[in-house]
Amino acid sequence: MCGITGFTGSESALPFLMQGLSRLEYRGYDSAGVTLISPQGLETLKTKGRLSELEELLKSRTLNQCAGIGHTRWATHGVPSNLNAHPHENEAETISLVHNGIIENYAELKEDLIHAGYHFQSDTDSEVIVQLLDYYYKSEQNMFTALKKTLKMLRGSWALCIVSVYEPDTLYVAKKESPMIIGQYEKGTFCASDAPAVLSYTKDILPLADGDMAVLRPNSLQVYNAAGKKMQPAFIHFPYDVQAAQKGGYDSFMMKEIYEQPKAVRETLRGRFRGMKIYMPEIDELKTDWQNVNRIVLIACGTAYHACIYADTLLKRDARIMSYAQPASEFRYCSPNVDEHTVCIFVSQSGETADTIAAMKLAKAKHCTTIAMTNVLGSSLARQTDTVVYTGAGPEIAVASTKAYTTQLVLLHVLMMKISEKLGYKPKNITRRIRDLKRMPEIIEETLGYRDQMKELAHMLKDQRDAYFIGRQLDYPTALEGALKLKEISYVHADAYYGGELKHGPIALIEKNTVVVALATQPDIAAKTISNIEETIARGANVILVTDQNIPAEKFHHVLRIPDAAPELANITSVVLLQLFAYFAAEEKGCDIDKPRNLAKSVTVE
Ligand code: M6R
Repeated sequence: MCGITGFTGSESALPFLMQGLSRLEYRGYDSAGVTLISPQGLETLKTKGRLSELEELLKSRTLNQCAGIGHTRWATHGVPSNLNAHPHENEAETISLVHNGIIENYAELKEDLIHAGYHFQSDTDSEVIVQLLDYYYKSEQNMFTALKKTLKMLRGSWALCIVSVYEPDTLYVAKKESPMIIGQYEKGTFCASDAPAVLSYTKDILPLADGDMAVLRPNSLQVYNAAGKKMQPAFIHFPYDVQAAQKGGYDSFMMKEIYEQPKAVRETLRGRFRGMKIYMPEIDELKTDWQNVNRIVLIACGTAYHACIYADTLLKRDARIMSYAQPASEFRYCSPNVDEHTVCIFVSQSGETADTIAAMKLAKAKHCTTIAMTNVLGSSLARQTDTVVYTGAGPEIAVASTKAYTTQLVLLHVLMMKISEKLGYKPKNITRRIRDLKRMPEIIEETLGYRDQMKELAHMLKDQRDAYFIGRQLDYPTALEGALKLKEISYVHADAYYGGELKHGPIALIEKNTVVVALATQPDIAAKTISNIEETIARGANVILVTDQNIPAEKFHHVLRIPDAAPELANITSVVLLQLFAYFAAEEKGCDIDKPRNLAKSVTVE
């Protein structure tokens, strides 16, 4: 999604702005631009396309100004174009801004401003903000008051960074429902929409809260909360370095992140067990009356939603409580039957997904207990729920989620066991599960040894347009996730089905050489899945079977035996194979693996 950088200091702002934008490139964008500001005025350069095109524009210019703002845009209102690219200026070219988020009432505001004599250059919602700022500045002659008055008029979400000729060394920053962080170092004060943009300058960052405004000057920083009260900035130490946000020795971020899974899982589980007991103080500290909890709802989007389906299936085995998993985009519009006796768990790698945050706000309004599981310290989700448990995946840059998913699986596993205990149930097979969770980094390591085999198998997809994934019970979310990975990075059409559903329709699609990936890791249901697989083989399917069960290999085309572990954990290893499968299919087809078409890493708009 869009990226923002801003700098004011004692040295040229441009290098900071550009390196920051380049670190945010992974978020996906379609245009880029900067405004540099000095007492002589604003200088704005922007273009549709990649950052390299902006660099071309900047080449012939001398731009040594010590303050400026930068942006990479992912179109929401108005097609990708030079005019729609940020920054946006007012007509008098005295104010310039960059904006992430969506202004829901921009059409009405635009109409009023046009009546008041304003002319618009772009089709964006963002341009109304700069025109409004101009409007209020004319009467107030004060940027801070003009900003406050402007924000009052806006409905929607924003991370804003503003410069003006009136105070050429000052950046005005505001945040609501779109991330924004601030940092300082000896040569200046800066802001960005995401930590990787600033990590080479500082690891101490200040994430703004919703409604905050900040005034950044070369040697000073003032932060005001939504009520206008001046706040003492509370910096947090970001535990990752820039290296962790780079590709290392791998061809892509995705492959690097697949290989980081043993470490990510280890970090996530660090400190979670005291011997064979689960340690999760975040849950113990909740004021929830567990005896009267009658419903658990797990809510998320995309890959994180698949992790929720897994957790829900697990919980149903361990505890007799009504529970379900639902995509956030559905939960928020289905008038959910939840109340103070409901615990809602929100899972999000980024902690900034708009639908998940909106669902969380709805659950709060209905007095549910809210638990966040996220990978990003201080993210919007983390700040607004009753409690938060963090996955320790480190920054995930590839759009296709891998290590975030496996860390969600292990942490959800622990959380579900904890919740079962809170509800008065002893999770089944708990000793083996905890023992194997502790061994999980080594088990994943062993699974990564299948790399070459997965590469060979992915070759099967070379001339195929479709692939089908089947699994039952705990294997079903793995089938969903395998299919999602394949389609998002290789563009091979992939669907996932419960094995038992095949004969109710999807089997009509199976013909000679159709690729079917079947998961059979659950001892109580594996025999049924095998029957489902045989039905596809009878119709000519080319089957890859992922299993740890004692199934005679000769019946199947390709059998991958995953390392032995508790059945409740088998999906963690099998999904690693499916990540590799999707990866090599995409590589074979020559796809841009880290930046799949039409997708963004963090979906901060509805
Ligand atoms: O940051 P989140 O976990 O909330 O993101 C949710 C989805 O957008 C994300 O998992 C998406 O489905 C990934 N591209 C999947 O690889």
